[in-house]
Amino acid sequence: MPEARERWTWRGAFVFAVIGSAVGLGNIWRFPYLAYENGGGAFLIPYFIALVTTGVPLMILEFALGHKFGAGAPIAMRRLRESFEWVGWWATVVGFIIITYYAVVMAWTIRYMVSAATLAWGEDAGGYLFGQVLQLTDSPFTLGGIPLPVFIAFVIGWVLMYLIVRSGIKGVGRVVMISMPLPVLLLIILVLRGLTLPGAIDGINYYLEPDFAKLADPQVWLAAYGQIFFSLSLALAILIAYASYLPGDAEIVNNAFLASFVNCGISFLAGLAVFSVLGYMALEQGVDVAHVAAGGVGLAFVVFPTGLGLLPAGASLFAVLFFLLLFSAAIDSAFSLVEGVVTSVADKWNLTRSQAVTAVTLPAFLLGTLFTTGAGLYWLDIVDHFINNFGLVLVGLVECIIVGWFWGAKEVREYVNARSEIKLGPWYEFCIKYPTPLMLTLTLIWSLYKELRAPYEGYPLSALFLGGWAVVIAAPIVAYVLSKLHRREVS
Ligand code: PHE
Repeated sequence: MPEARERWTWRGAFVFAVIGSAVGLGNIWRFPYLAYENGGGAFLIPYFIALVTTGVPLMILEFALGHKFGAGAPIAMRRLRESFEWVGWWATVVGFIIITYYAVVMAWTIRYMVSAATLAWGEDAGGYLFGQVLQLTDSPFTLGGIPLPVFIAFVIGWVLMYLIVRSGIKGVGRVVMISMPLPVLLLIILVLRGLTLPGAIDGINYYLEPDFAKLADPQVWLAAYGQIFFSLSLALAILIAYASYLPGDAEIVNNAFLASFVNCGISFLAGLAVFSVLGYMALEQGVDVAHVAAGGVGLAFVVFPTGLGLLPAGASLFAVLFFLLLFSAAIDSAFSLVEGVVTSVADKWNLTRSQAVTAVTLPAFLLGTLFTTGAGLYWLDIVDHFINNFGLVLVGLVECIIVGWFWGAKEVREYVNARSEIKLGPWYEFCIKYPTPLMLTLTLIWSLYKELRAPYEGYPLSALFLGGWAVVIAAPIVAYVLSKLHRREVS
């Protein structure tokens, strides 16, 4: 007996889940630094344009696909046209790769909640991270050992994801009631603490000082497009899966605008928290803000912990809150990735949820263990770089072309307009057909050019090949094979 498809159980569940997926490490450790580097306040212009011309249109497109075809990415694509199924798998495979390492970064945030209670990094946050916590080896090919505390945190993270996704879309809907608002609340607390610190205003000035000349640099525009893509969790089978659990009369356009604007607002807010603390830190250490500014792993696990350690009162409390912020932002992004893959798998082979969850989480956990070793950070960095610059953007481009030109941008517009309060104008079709694919193509060409000119971070070419090119190239091939596997029809 085929069971009826599960549905979100309360009105806001879907939009909470989408915001939860979008708001992640990218908002906190990627956006502020990106803005600072690419023109400060002026960066908000390309960012906003990218949001409205690419982010929102693609989000609407994925919602429409999931909603209309009532299935995860591969089967939704298949119902559009049989030969497109592999594109849905491509998004799914890329999502699967991301979850293998995203779970490891999440594990670090769990590990650091413990470190934060005693400010265990002392004066040397860098040494503590690379030496004690990660036990980083000196080359990608020296695996080293697996530090036990990180591994325990990794297991905890996976158990949580397993339980949440196994509890079904109802369970996900319940969890996001807390996991979506919690990081927002924590961020507000940190912003208030940050802004009242001496030196905060210098930090904010660095962050937002507009440099309009930068707008002439194409790299700034591409950075904006790349960030929008990553931040909104596009092209990963997630949004299609989430939308496939919507009731028939669901509202699409409002939700897409709401989720993407809230996500970007939170990124902006995170910048205030980050740069006010950096400003304070620069003042305390008698250096320039530029000297302490950083993004990524360096910001979250080195610079920021150092800055928090300098606080006059409640340093360990704020440090714990900061890692709780990172963890709570990461967890719903992490399980959204698992949910995307699980939905794809369950829909193709008619598996029960617990079968599908086991089939996905077990291999993802085992593969992810590689990233917990002493060489893990190198591989994580390489895979992440290639997947973000090539994997995601390629999938987004193909998705955009297929849906925009084959289903028809006009059909998408009519479909969503028929069930939305806000009506999309003809601008929507135009964006999907021309500027979006064009910008994505330019982003790809530019990334390729940069990659060939200077291999990423000076890693050995063999490591870049194995962790980067091979992964990017294998993804569509694996996807194609999956699409050809026999589908188990409902009997
Ligand atoms: N959107 C998340 C962030 O900004 C990252 C993410 C990407 C999550 C892809 C899930 C999938 O951090």
